[in-house]
Amino acid sequence: MVSTKCLAGLLAAATLVSARTPSGFTPGSTTDLIVIYNGVVAMNGAVIPRASTADQPMVGILTKPSGTSFAIVMIDLDIPSQNGSSETNTLLHWMQTGLTPAAQATRVNTTTGQISVFLLQNTSNTTPLAAYIPPNPPARVPLSHRYTQILVDTSGVTTNSLGALRTAATNRLGFAAQTVLGQAGLDGKVVAGNFYNVTNPGPVNGTAGTGGGTGAGGGGPRLTGGAGRVGPTLGLVAGLAAGVAVML
Ligand SMILES: *[C@@H]1O[C@H](CO)[C@@H](O)[C@H](O)[C@H]1NC(C)=O
Ligand SMILES: *[C@@H]1O[C@H](CO)[C@@H](O)[C@H](O)[C@H]1NC(C)=O
Ligand SMILES: *[C@@H]1O[C@H](CO)[C@@H](O)[C@H](O)[C@H]1NC(C)=O
Ligand SMILES: *[C@@H]1O[C@H](CO)[C@@H](O)[C@H](O)[C@H]1NC(C)=O
Ligand SMILES: *[C@@H]1O[C@H](CO)[C@@H](O)[C@H](O)[C@H]1NC(C)=O
Repeated sequence: MVSTKCLAGLLAAATLVSARTPSGFTPGSTTDLIVIYNGVVAMNGAVIPRASTADQPMVGILTKPSGTSFAIVMIDLDIPSQNGSSETNTLLHWMQTGLTPAAQATRVNTTTGQISVFLLQNTSNTTPLAAYIPPNPPARVPLSHRYTQILVDTSGVTTNSLGALRTAATNRLGFAAQTVLGQAGLDGKVVAGNFYNVTNPGPVNGTAGTGGGTGAGGGGPRLTGGAGRVGPTLGLVAGLAAGVAVML
């Protein structure tokens, strides 16, 4: 028999479309990583308005983890190539270490109902290794970008391991999650994952092939090609080639 309590848990999980990393992505996970932007649940490949993703999301998991320290890593898997090829590149959007799971589940109101989540909190005020950059897919092919998040158990990691993450986070373009976790001795430590989809409405801008670096920029502190617009929190990415900065 399934107890009432269990059943309630199952129902809660079922009403939340389950999260997962995109097919083909490694290191993947089929365990729900809950990603909520100001009440908007951004999970399971859902198409999310760009405007909803301006500020870093709340993240959590449905069951209490055994680990004590976690990192979230967010990667865009669909950066258009700058050399005219149809191959895409990746870009690290966010790397935050030092997250601790809340002792109790919190009921969070979302646009799809209330969910009970063990939030991952930055109780130690750890500075992110890569500050959050909001999605901003350009009018280039592919118009739809898969913003992928993984949760990594970093309990008891060594200083060397953190150092490897820190170094890797300085190179946002071409970020290879599997390689980076290997370098940091964190193979097999991905405990949950998710992705969502932000789509540029188009039409595709056929003249943007060479990456001229004059990003239109949205509202707020987005990256643009003009170095003058790169704000202090985005200093880490200031080193990106001008043409790259508009392809997030
Ligand atoms: C073009 O860029 C893609 C990444 O966007 C890369 O994989 C590929 O190797 C590049 N090709 C050349 C010829 O540089
Ligand atoms: C969440 O929703 C419930 C029921 O609609 C409401 O009573 C509660 O005040 C809301 N909590 C927050 C923090 O908005
Ligand atoms: C954690 O704290 C740092 C320093 O206050 C802040 O920059 C960062 O945004 C916080 N991260 C999260 C996920 O709250
Ligand atoms: C993302 O959403 C767009 C718009 O609905 C859709 O056309 C596209 O196929 C989606 N992409 C992925 C990878 O799910
Ligand atoms: C298309 O891209 C070019 C070169 O990057 C840019 O100058 C132009 O403003 C873009 N047009 C639109 C409609 O975004």
